[in-house]
Amino acid sequence: MGPAADRGQETTGIEVAEAFKNVIKSKTVLITGVSPKSLGESTALAIARHRPAKLILASRTESKLQQVADGIAQVDSSLEVELIVINLSSQADIHDAAGKVRALTDRLDILINNAAVVTSARGETTEGIELQFGTNHVGHHLLTSLLMPLLLAGAEASGEPGTTRIVNVSSLGYRLSPIRFHDYNFEGKPVPPEEEPPAGIPSHMKPDAAAGRPYYAFTAYGQSKTANMLHAVALKEKLSCKGIQAFAVHPGSIWTDLSRNLSEEDLKIIEGTSTFWKDQDQGCATTIAAAFDPDLCGAKQAFLSDCHLEDVAEYAKDSVIAEKLWQLSEELTGESAKL
Ligand SMILES: NC(=O)c1ccc[n+]([C@@H]2O[C@H](COP(=O)([O-])OP(=O)(O)OC[C@H]3O[C@@H](n4cnc5c(N)ncnc54)[C@H](OP(=O)(O)O)[C@@H]3O)[C@@H](O)[C@H]2O)c1
Repeated sequence: MGPAADRGQETTGIEVAEAFKNVIKSKTVLITGVSPKSLGESTALAIARHRPAKLILASRTESKLQQVADGIAQVDSSLEVELIVINLSSQADIHDAAGKVRALTDRLDILINNAAVVTSARGETTEGIELQFGTNHVGHHLLTSLLMPLLLAGAEASGEPGTTRIVNVSSLGYRLSPIRFHDYNFEGKPVPPEEEPPAGIPSHMKPDAAAGRPYYAFTAYGQSKTANMLHAVALKEKLSCKGIQAFAVHPGSIWTDLSRNLSEEDLKIIEGTSTFWKDQDQGCATTIAAAFDPDLCGAKQAFLSDCHLEDVAEYAKDSVIAEKLWQLSEELTGESAKL
């Protein structure tokens, strides 16, 4: 494929991986959220074509992980593929899984935090954190912190600053909510105006505690995806001096199993959110660009869409807000990353 300027919404992950095959070769890559038809699967399949040193697939359901591993074996049966069962909605499970990863490898070059859940009904993690925030962000924050020694070892061994990377799969759905520091759990606590959904979001598409609706699914999803972006901002600030880059990406709109826990009404809303639906291979292109494009080694911006860096709302890129979220996440996990 041609230069970066040619990449856009129709670019596939296979094309991007082909362009960066020399970068992929010999890298140890961990991807969360891997099951048939998911973006985790297409990401793994595209990377698998170019001889990574090791592919570690970490997800909730063992049988689904195995199905994807069987597909990868058809691409390259000699590839080293490791499967880790992890429930990102349980911090004890994340500790356990991170220990298993540390036993498998002494370095990580690329961490792709891709798993997510979306749910119309309010749920909670094992620790009682609202399910989307707790799984999509807090779970990945904890996993990233626990894997930090492996990432630092990867950066030290590579000797090429910016090629060790953390990629958080976020969403343009971040536009639905900033971080609600005063009510991240959706318990109906009052939040200041700057933590409310942005102007222009209709009242039926936000929480309304007075009307008995302290939780609204897409606000909670939006908060969790804003958190993925701010996590990347904080990681970039803390780690670029150590040779590690971090990005968040919007993969596009793709029909996957992500909407499985949505009501009919919420599904209809999703159907109206895009004029261009990507297939799974197109849906992993931006993630693969963020993970391997050498031109991004010194990038100051932390967000990509359609394979390009893109500017975002202040509340999703402000380093003071990013640090505030980092502190909250450390409080919620009781874990302080050793940077
Ligand atoms: N699809 C889109 O249009 C779209 C748009 C914007 C952003 N995104 C983002 O893209 C990423 C991938 O989503 P997708 O569309 O591929 O969705 P998906 O098909 O539902 O895949 C999500 C993956 O996450 C795993 N997962 C869910 N909860 C988990 C948990 N508690 N612990 C561990 N793994 C868990 C799922 O495992 P099981 O299947 O075993 O439950 C599945 O493998 C997400 O971050 C999503 O927010 C997607």
